[in-house]
Amino acid sequence: MPAESYTVDETFFGRSDPAELVGRFGSPLYVYNERILRRCCRDMKTIVDYPHFTANFSIKANANINLLSIVREEGLLADAMSPGELFFLEQAGFRPDQIFFVPNNVSADELRYALDRGIMISLDSLDQLELIGKMAPGGRVAIRINPGIGAGHHAKVITAGKKTKFGINSDQLDEAQRIARQYNLRIVGVNQHIGSLFMEPVPYLKAAAHFLQLAERFTDLEFIDLGGGFGIPYHKLAGEARLDLTVLREGLTRLIGDFVCRYGREITLKSEPGRYIVAECGVLLGTVHALKENDGIAYAGTDLGFNVLARPILYDSWHDILAYRAGQRLPADETKPCTIVGNICESGDIIAKDRQLPALNRGDILAVLDAGAYGYAMSSNYNNRLRPAEVLIRENGEAALIRRRDTYADLLRGFDLE
Ligand code: LLP
Repeated sequence: MPAESYTVDETFFGRSDPAELVGRFGSPLYVYNERILRRCCRDMKTIVDYPHFTANFSIKANANINLLSIVREEGLLADAMSPGELFFLEQAGFRPDQIFFVPNNVSADELRYALDRGIMISLDSLDQLELIGKMAPGGRVAIRINPGIGAGHHAKVITAGKKTKFGINSDQLDEAQRIARQYNLRIVGVNQHIGSLFMEPVPYLKAAAHFLQLAERFTDLEFIDLGGGFGIPYHKLAGEARLDLTVLREGLTRLIGDFVCRYGREITLKSEPGRYIVAECGVLLGTVHALKENDGIAYAGTDLGFNVLARPILYDSWHDILAYRAGQRLPADETKPCTIVGNICESGDIIAKDRQLPALNRGDILAVLDAGAYGYAMSSNYNNRLRPAEVLIRENGEAALIRRRDTYADLLRGFDLE
């Protein structure tokens, strides 16, 4: 499958075009393509050839309830990080046994929320294991292990290894088992998540092999969860290759086969993809409102502030950008450097630095690609800006509003005004 067909495809906007969509639903605007979402779900369901495998969508990447329903229809299960995510999953029709709760530093009340619904919980520290032991002695639980190996596109998203708050260290596993015995808990699952966004299968496979070895120390296992982190090519326009799912599949299939032989019985294998499922089906549209040159730097001032897409300011993330005028994509044969900034009152409010783009005019529309993961999910009302609407291009090409744009009344929610 060529990388381009996942996002930068003329059919992405269905029967609409960027200008028409922005005219109808406002700017900025998140636009998702159902066909691509479903394709990415299917990719993730087939990363291993093993009958007891589940792909659990990690909804922190995008919790739009309408998208969650599509992911559920595609047969994925889900993982959640907070009671709010559990609540959304219930709203989208997931049953408790289809949800895995993998929280970090939660209160007893938050654990109670999951316990009351019979949702499987993974504990991320000895302290929280002890807490659940006191709250629900005799129960079945999972633990999140820090296998000592981390990975990720930025230090802020590496979630295993030496310098991270996550998981129970592998040298604390005897203590974890002692706590479990003390409260008569059965550790039926172990999970890891080493970090977010890997593009090479081999390091993930190495981490998986190491984790499966650690897992053998637990005799009661019903499942092993290898975590998420599956990367997508953010530099598509420069021809960046996709994650090689064939190599991944061959490796994982061999690893789980060997594990089952050694362990002596079959267990369920889980994964937790977030970004891979939703990143590429989402494009963020914004409008150019002002052009200027300051000290030799050409700026395009837009409504794409970091309140709408926080990834560039947080992680220096790259998103490919296309420009449109009157619904047509501007040809990229003659380009010049342009820095694209938003409308937030901070000088770090830069969505793309020194980008080679066609000469822009006021009123042009920019399409920020691969914005479906950690885009809307991390957006905010900073500067009292309204969060954008979200629109879905259905498989028949029709555009459907799947979350309306904020209103000023939404900003007032929570105040007790006369
Ligand atoms: N499971 C756990 C326990 C996680 O902490 C995460 C992500 C995932 C699964 C899903 O990882 P994914 O497949 O999406 O890489 N905001 C950052 C990414 C933060 C990831 C946090 N944890 C970004 O925009 O790059």
